[in-house]
Amino acid sequence: MVDEQIARRGVTDTAVLDAMRTVPRHRFVPDRYRLEAYADYPLPIGEAQTISQPYVVAVMTEALGLSPGDTVLEIGTGCGYQTAVLAEIARHVFSIEIVEPLASHAEFTLAALGYGNIDVRIGDGYRGWPEHAPFEAIILTAAPEHIPQPLVDQLIIGGRMVLPLGASNQSLVVLTKTAEGLQREERFGVRFVPMTGEAQNPQDSAR
Ligand SMILES: C[S@@+](CC[C@H](N)C(=O)[O-])C[C@H]1O[C@@H](n2cnc3c(N)ncnc32)[C@H](O)[C@@H]1O
Repeated sequence: MVDEQIARRGVTDTAVLDAMRTVPRHRFVPDRYRLEAYADYPLPIGEAQTISQPYVVAVMTEALGLSPGDTVLEIGTGCGYQTAVLAEIARHVFSIEIVEPLASHAEFTLAALGYGNIDVRIGDGYRGWPEHAPFEAIILTAAPEHIPQPLVDQLIIGGRMVLPLGASNQSLVVLTKTAEGLQREERFGVRFVPMTGEAQNPQDSAR
């Protein structure tokens, strides 16, 4: 998976490649998809949600530019696979999932694999996790139509936020917070599930 789908397509960060070699992706997918766990596409994880394609997980993780001492906020735990990849590299990962059965199942899987540097919370991630802010990096794995300002507020200056942005036409966007504002880089078109909850309320946006 890593050699053929990820390194060959240009991901070079060795911490990301090592993390993706380490995390057992088959432990995060439903039993009936185990044989396809390392295939080059997303898979259903129940509750009408998906685990992202391995390449997209790698690109998003690399774009965060993580260091070993970093604290990361993830919005959209899903099955916990991306969470585990982040936890292999960063010091601590705080992850919020709005669908209760997914959050509970992800917590179970991550605990069974021995991850001690992850906290999962059930709820709407739109307002982040202020008690643990600021974060060096924030990743969204569901697509809002606007950038949630509370998440920007919880990022350190110099920190990065990676998210799929948009409704039917989504792009993978990498934001860097500077003292002057947000620097924005668009990578490529993606198709993620929509961010639900308060993100679907058009107030309070930082377009
Ligand atoms: C593409 S899936 C996540 C895939 C995940 N990276 C994985 O490895 O399984 C997106 C997740 O975001 C969750 N989600 C959507 N809106 C959310 C919100 N407002 N707050 C927290 N989680 C949300 C969905 O329930 C879904 O589980």
